[in-house]
Amino acid sequence: MDKLIYLDHNSTTPPDPRVVEAMMPYYNEAWGNASSLHQFGRHAKAGVEEAREIIAKTFNCLPEEIYFTSGGTESDNFAVKGAAYEHQNKGKHIITSKIEHHAILESFAFLEEEGFEATYLPVDQYGFVDPDDLRKAIRPDTILVSVMYANNEVGTIQKMDELASVCQEKGVIFHTDAVQAAGKIPIDLKRTPITLMSTSGHKIYGPKGVGILYIRQGTRMIRWQTGGAHERGMRAGTENVPAIVGYGKAMELAQKEMKDNDRKISAMAEEFRNTVLREIPDVRFNGPEEERIKATVNLCFKGAEGEAVILNLDMMGIGVTSGSACTSGALEPSHVLTAMGVPPELAQSAIRFSFGKDNDPEDIDYIVNSLKTAIEKLRMMSPFYQSQ
Ligand SMILES: Cc1ncc(COP(=O)(O)O)c(C=O)c1O
Repeated sequence: MDKLIYLDHNSTTPPDPRVVEAMMPYYNEAWGNASSLHQFGRHAKAGVEEAREIIAKTFNCLPEEIYFTSGGTESDNFAVKGAAYEHQNKGKHIITSKIEHHAILESFAFLEEEGFEATYLPVDQYGFVDPDDLRKAIRPDTILVSVMYANNEVGTIQKMDELASVCQEKGVIFHTDAVQAAGKIPIDLKRTPITLMSTSGHKIYGPKGVGILYIRQGTRMIRWQTGGAHERGMRAGTENVPAIVGYGKAMELAQKEMKDNDRKISAMAEEFRNTVLREIPDVRFNGPEEERIKATVNLCFKGAEGEAVILNLDMMGIGVTSGSACTSGALEPSHVLTAMGVPPELAQSAIRFSFGKDNDPEDIDYIVNSLKTAIEKLRMMSPFYQSQ
């Protein structure tokens, strides 16, 4: 096998060499504890604070509103549980959508077991939450709403301004999981009244195990992890300095190169999608035409089971995923596609192709031909498939 093609950038991205380069001095030289007063500590602290400044500037917020965490999952847990516990005296009703990442859905399930009441908003066939549905769902005892910015399986970008404004108007905390949006599309926290926002380093060519929770100034939250005074006492634990520095660098590059990356990746992904739809019969595209992270192309191949497609493509050197990586291994159809109204047996055949900045447009023919071979083979073996 000579070719290796990675098309799973929504799961994780290869670290940019410039990010790795920026991190290395914090392993080799400035390895001090960022809390120490001496110069070893001060050097490490300077790296952390510089990263905080870069990230704050990217989102047009204050550095004091950025809290470093171990990634998207922790930030989601911090946001949902941290806000719910802090504000439970006001009410115990919380709202989210049916297409969230499991870091949100499981946090909601946990809180339901703790006596909170949850509402799960539906989405339309493209994966959009209707701001009117949100408005109707908010009650006097609603304390938190969490709706993701961009979906990891189909790429749908929600109507963030409208959703956040409804919550602002009603005086309810609004959290968004922006793990798949941050660094890919512009986010302006001065303009959009988001109260809490989660992001993660490894989705934008940064290191794994680092992310942020943005907490709008004046928002009360429980102290998430107790111990020392790190992260202004809200999230104790010695900072992962190299990862934080790497995340700052990754964000700086993502911001600077956003337009070029988007143009290149979108063109490539669109060409791939259109070629597949033209050349392979019985394919369904899942997601909206516009208001989507175009790098994400989610397709159902009737009669070809998703896991089998993945394994066949893997043998041809192509890395893709079915549903989302976090659920692969389980054979249930994707909760996102099911919520969008895709029949379960068709949802079983869904494959997510997620393109990145290092993909080569020259490879599209090879990818489509490999896919065609795999689908034809699996359909021939399927007792259920009959072409129309
Ligand atoms: C939308 C979304 N939220 C949260 C996460 C979890 O982030 P992390 O891997 O940094 O814990 C992911 C990762 O797949 C994601 O796509």
